[in-house]
Amino acid sequence: MVAAFPVWKGFPVSRTFPACLLAVAIVALPTSIALAQQTAGPAVLTIQVDHPVAKVSPTLYGLMTEEINHSYDGGLYAEMVQNRTFRADWSGIRDWYLVERGQAEAKMDIDTTTGPSTALPHSLRLDVITASAASSAGVLNTGYWGMALHPDTTYRGSFYAKEDTPQVGSVTVSLVANQSGNTLASATVSGIGAAWQQYHFTLKTGAIEPSAANHLEVTVAHAGTLWLNLVSLFPPTFHNRPNGNRIDLMEKLAAMHPAFLRFPGGNYLEGYDIRTRFDWKKTIGPLVDRPGHPSPWDYLSSDGMGLLEFLEWCEDLHMQPVLAVYAGYSLNGEHVNPGPDLEPYVESALEEIQYVTGGTDTEWGAKRAADGHPKPFDLQYVEIGNEDTFDRSGSYDGRYVQFYHAIKAKYPNLQLIATAPVKSVRPDVIDEHYYVRATEFFHDADHYDKTDRSGPKIFVGEWATREGTPTPNFGAALGDAAWMTGLERNSDIVIMASYAPLFVNVNPLAMQWTPDLIGYDAMHSYGSPGYYAQVMFASHLGTERPAATLEGAGARFFYSVTEDRAAKRIYLKLVNASSDAQALDIDFSGVRLDVQGQVTALSAPDTQATNTVEHPDAIVPVESTLAVHGDRLHYSVPGDSIQVLQLQWR
Ligand code: AHR
Repeated sequence: MVAAFPVWKGFPVSRTFPACLLAVAIVALPTSIALAQQTAGPAVLTIQVDHPVAKVSPTLYGLMTEEINHSYDGGLYAEMVQNRTFRADWSGIRDWYLVERGQAEAKMDIDTTTGPSTALPHSLRLDVITASAASSAGVLNTGYWGMALHPDTTYRGSFYAKEDTPQVGSVTVSLVANQSGNTLASATVSGIGAAWQQYHFTLKTGAIEPSAANHLEVTVAHAGTLWLNLVSLFPPTFHNRPNGNRIDLMEKLAAMHPAFLRFPGGNYLEGYDIRTRFDWKKTIGPLVDRPGHPSPWDYLSSDGMGLLEFLEWCEDLHMQPVLAVYAGYSLNGEHVNPGPDLEPYVESALEEIQYVTGGTDTEWGAKRAADGHPKPFDLQYVEIGNEDTFDRSGSYDGRYVQFYHAIKAKYPNLQLIATAPVKSVRPDVIDEHYYVRATEFFHDADHYDKTDRSGPKIFVGEWATREGTPTPNFGAALGDAAWMTGLERNSDIVIMASYAPLFVNVNPLAMQWTPDLIGYDAMHSYGSPGYYAQVMFASHLGTERPAATLEGAGARFFYSVTEDRAAKRIYLKLVNASSDAQALDIDFSGVRLDVQGQVTALSAPDTQATNTVEHPDAIVPVESTLAVHGDRLHYSVPGDSIQVLQLQWR
């Protein structure tokens, strides 16, 4: 849960201060900033546009994800019912409460003797002693700290149920406003039988005020016994996928132009112990066949977001899957010895890869087709484990090699990622993780400048400036942006990078890690300043890096320049982490620029400034235009700002 193996190098080479260059600010600064800020420089940035020196990795920016901070349950996965399978602990049946209206009398309990499937062998038993149409009895669910309801919207639900006698009658499902008690939508399900069966219903709201202060009630109007399990309710989802994802969060991710998705973790892949690892076979197929499992982040995962849902998430956002397979090491230190003991885990990984990529004529490809997705997914990267530097047994080398040979024998084109140094075989890619303060990223933005280009490629599979809570503040965004300039400059070797953690439900009971890139509650979501920095960088990636030098800039000034030669476009990222403005004299050798460029700028009055659920747009990118002539540009980068200049050449 800490940085895996960041290797600290020295500070950036100090830059000399130029004596004789004049700078002209082309973009006027807001008066308040202009008055408060000194201007340093000018520094000289020389870009040899006609001299590309390295390719930019098209997969540089992607997403890393795991079940943490209610990232899926209570987050991206749009299920509205919390604890839909009635798990109980010392406090009772979590998130469920008894409803006894008027003179009704009832009790609820967990029945371990009956359930709808082998995976869900238990159920909620509701014994109704007295009830009537005017005095109904049942249970209510409070959702993931509320249930967001919108006007004129259809919510689709289902449950598994059985009754002891037909006398219990029909079941009423209602969405009820917490404060007023008003029923906002209601449906009746009749014909519940004596054997377990799934029942579907829809709930349609009318002209209501959008609010998350609502709950779901499941009630009956007669005495008798009703058993329930897998009570589920979904709002409209992204691309209308059944069992799908929240639209607002998917749209936020789409704006990041992610090239890949690393899943299913993180520590979530490893589990607290071997028993609670991400066991992919238990996450596929009908929901009723998924038992769910404890996540290492101290809550139960429904596994509604299972292997196929991860892949469909990739499909929806045009991301490559980066599939992490369990490699025989868990967080409590348990490990599996390489050799015969590890064989079942290797076999399971091979089957998992076949589930992802196999034709329908293969065993696991056929299973994927039966699960609703006949078309195989394209897979290029498989990661063996997670943060195996923490495995003190020294078994990773042997474990990696065993997976490596078995996977390469069947899938020679797959690129295999190692999560710790390996000696016995050369990994294709190494995954490195960095969780640091902004100052450390400022000092280490040149981290990969001198990395050996003949070694394995690098995947910075987790990185973050850890400042701000629950989401990063603007100071963290400056650290992130400085670090990203180094990733871009070295993206011939750093082929992929992903911030972590991605998501946080900002309800205090939902969070285990801070900061996290995107925050939300049941109703709202927002991007942090760091999120917007990534949107800005990834939206202006480019295909090549031209030769460039910078002289005379302050120590907390960072840049990256890329270009798209086919489009004759230059993308210049400028990060000024000093509170002083930085004057720049930019020389674009080899081309003549068009008269108008575009500027996307992110800034804040203070490094502690941030976005919140209440103020989601306090710090957002601002677009403007920039007049440019010929091959030179005098430009002033405001203090504490992140900017992307898009310039066109003729
Ligand atoms: O991102 C949070 C955790 O940090 C990840 O699960 C783990 O890989 C790292 O230690």
